[in-house]
Amino acid sequence: MTTTTTTTAETVLDAGGVTMRFGGLTAVRSVDLTVNSGEIVGLIGPNGAGKTTFFNCLTGLYIPTEGRVTYKGTVLPPKPHLVTQAGVARTFQNIRLFSNMTVLENVLVGRHTRTKEGLWSALLRGPGFKRAEAESRERAMELLSFTGLAAKADHLARNLPYGEQRKLEIARALASDPGLLLLDEPTAGMNPQETRAAEDLIFAIRDQGIAVLVIEHDMRFIFNLCDRVACLVQGEKLVEGSPEVVQGDERVVAAYLGTPFEGAPGAEEVAEVEAAEAEASASAPADAAPDGGESTTRTTGPEKETP
Ligand SMILES: Nc1ncnc2c1ncn2[C@@H]1O[C@H](COP(=O)(O)OP(=O)(O)OP(=O)(O)O)[C@@H](O)[C@H]1O
Ligand SMILES: [Mg+2]
Repeated sequence: MTTTTTTTAETVLDAGGVTMRFGGLTAVRSVDLTVNSGEIVGLIGPNGAGKTTFFNCLTGLYIPTEGRVTYKGTVLPPKPHLVTQAGVARTFQNIRLFSNMTVLENVLVGRHTRTKEGLWSALLRGPGFKRAEAESRERAMELLSFTGLAAKADHLARNLPYGEQRKLEIARALASDPGLLLLDEPTAGMNPQETRAAEDLIFAIRDQGIAVLVIEHDMRFIFNLCDRVACLVQGEKLVEGSPEVVQGDERVVAAYLGTPFEGAPGAEEVAEVEAAEAEASASAPADAAPDGGESTTRTTGPEKETP
């Protein structure tokens, strides 16, 4: 593996003013973010902050309500397979593998954007596919060695432990020869050793000249790995900077702890709701149960994205 010695950083990804509304809900609000060549950039933020939605806007799964996204100076087309073809690959928060196909076959499918043969030819093993297969197979095996999965090439994807399924998703994404890799919670469900290994894998990917944008909740992982970190809160980019800057920013800490702070997105509404709740509980008899015993518990976690 060779380390890239980039002298002039090129802007690989440039997202400007990206806004995504779902009806009355603004999941992402006017977010600007760039990723330069040779960089690993982290995207953090509490559950429901809009991180995955932002990824979906970058990768053509959603067409942003406002804003534009360019990759190496060209506007990205609003279709996932065209985005992959342009050079942007991704993994998903909820693993998406062909579970009844082998590990190798999953990577071969990821390769289809780079071969003349289409997805169906790859799946149906037509004559054109057979010709291209030897070369693709060699590249796929290289990627399986790179991700540490070569020994499991013939295993069914569904039989892999969870951590290895995440690695397989990365191998499949790399099969499209991307210039930018987007990882949505790559270490979710991993044990500490697997997380360390994932860190090394992402450094190695960066060293191959692929820029990385990674969403994670594991802060130790993010701060070890990233050159730059941006924090989204309620759809807005609250802070961006070096790991040291973001780590030391009290607004980031407050956002994770759920403590409102002056000027925070949505802080006014939170304050209003809390004041109304305080007033209601002050005027209610101490031991009275609500009528019908209905629970007043609010769920704090948003629904997961299932595009
Ligand atoms: N397709 C959709 N339709 C309506 N609302 C959506 C849709 N996708 C996401 N949302 C909402 O947008 C907000 C942001 O969700 P998103 O999944 O992007 O958050 P996240 O930062 O990735 O959270 P987590 O850390 O839990 O994965 C949430 O309120 C979510 O319910
Ligand atoms: Mg998410």
